[in-house]
Amino acid sequence: MSSAEERFVFREPSVNSKNIVKRDESTISPSYTRSYGFTVSHGEGAEVWDVDGNRYIDFASGIAVLSTGFSHPRVVKAVQDQVAKYMHIGGTDFFSPEPVRLAEKLQEIIPIHKASPEEKLVFYGNSGTESVEAAIKLARYATKRSHIVAFYGAFHGRSMGSLSLTASKYTQRDGYPYIPGGVTHVPYPARNQCEGCDDGGGCCQQCWCDAIGFIETFVFKKVAPSDVAAIIVEPIQGEGGYLVPRDDFLPRLRKLCDQYGILLIADEIQSGVGRTGKWLAIEHWDVSPDIVCMAKGLASGLPLGAVVAHSDVMGKWIPGAHASTFGGNPVSCIAALETLNIIEDGLLDSVSVLGEYTYGRLTKFMGDHPSMSRVDGKGFMIGMDFVDANGQPIPAFRDEIVNRCYLNGLLTLGCGTSGIRFAPSLVLEREILDEGLDILEHCIASVEEDLWDNE
Ligand SMILES: Cc1ncc(COP(=O)(O)O)c(C=O)c1O
Repeated sequence: MSSAEERFVFREPSVNSKNIVKRDESTISPSYTRSYGFTVSHGEGAEVWDVDGNRYIDFASGIAVLSTGFSHPRVVKAVQDQVAKYMHIGGTDFFSPEPVRLAEKLQEIIPIHKASPEEKLVFYGNSGTESVEAAIKLARYATKRSHIVAFYGAFHGRSMGSLSLTASKYTQRDGYPYIPGGVTHVPYPARNQCEGCDDGGGCCQQCWCDAIGFIETFVFKKVAPSDVAAIIVEPIQGEGGYLVPRDDFLPRLRKLCDQYGILLIADEIQSGVGRTGKWLAIEHWDVSPDIVCMAKGLASGLPLGAVVAHSDVMGKWIPGAHASTFGGNPVSCIAALETLNIIEDGLLDSVSVLGEYTYGRLTKFMGDHPSMSRVDGKGFMIGMDFVDANGQPIPAFRDEIVNRCYLNGLLTLGCGTSGIRFAPSLVLEREILDEGLDILEHCIASVEEDLWDNE
């Protein structure tokens, strides 16, 4: 294997970062997908410093996790108070107030199809993939049906059940025989992907953006609708490229599910908890799911997954049907409660306003930079794609922009084939946002100047 210095770029001075990366390489699994040598020391809000003292603006927020920033004083205080009381009791066998308080808050703010607040129930795990595992076990258990429909480009996690739904990159599935079956993938109907199809208009039949027609025409030839337990969807696709669906898609999907008694599972692990300016991204289309999966930003960085479902569905589980030792950890639950309170105190509005502003600036970048082929998203979940002069995706070009951003003091992450995601903390303010966008544009321009004409 090549050395750390060959594989990663480092910002100067980077003695300490290089040292940690080198030790990481001889101690930590190589399965992680780091693309540059950023090594964290500490952070505040949407700014972070590396172990060599360099400052960065953070447009990545630990993959859409740090919803209230690196160490929000209110979250820190709530966590410290809780840690001093007790850190674990085990929700499988004992009761505790904190998970109940959080569940009551989730009952209040998370919309579930045809459910009043008291008709919602919550299950806790520790991660996104555990939320998805719980949701698909629940859907199959409650409906007594076996099949699940998922979408190409989807990322739902890496444990075996979730992996059966993930179809984002083949490397995530390759080498793992016996991935559970009973899953059919269909094309995800992203908008702004196809010149032949306008939003809300007909499908050109070349791009498969009529996902509902695809399910009815093809999937229901293979599987009886009465054997489909659930359709699982990312209301805005994350890892797959930050893709916003056509406006008619989610309402039609809801209708299809209602028609056949299929449960609609919204994987809001990346798009939820206020990231798009609403608690859930699916709310942008006035649709509510039967089951919601959350994790990532829920507890501002402490591990917590939550599944919310109608009590008609989750109430079918009997004791022992599903559980988790750490799920509903009181420290994580208290961090989540404080996170939700902070978001409620004005962040949904500021994310909507600053998200629109960012969308506008990125759209202007697209006008000025021919390598940029698409900008789309909502709130603080915006993706942009890069192509060569023939309109073909160029991952290496995107990687170079990401690297140069890092070298210029901006943390970004790729997504899709040749995209970059804008997924900062919800506390990001206008001044730092502008500083970060200036760096991003400078790096796009400099990579374009050096590489684009030669592609
Ligand atoms: C939409 C979505 N679902 C599930 C997951 C899996 O979450 P975790 O990595 O916490 O298991 C992710 C992670 O990126 C995600 O974006």
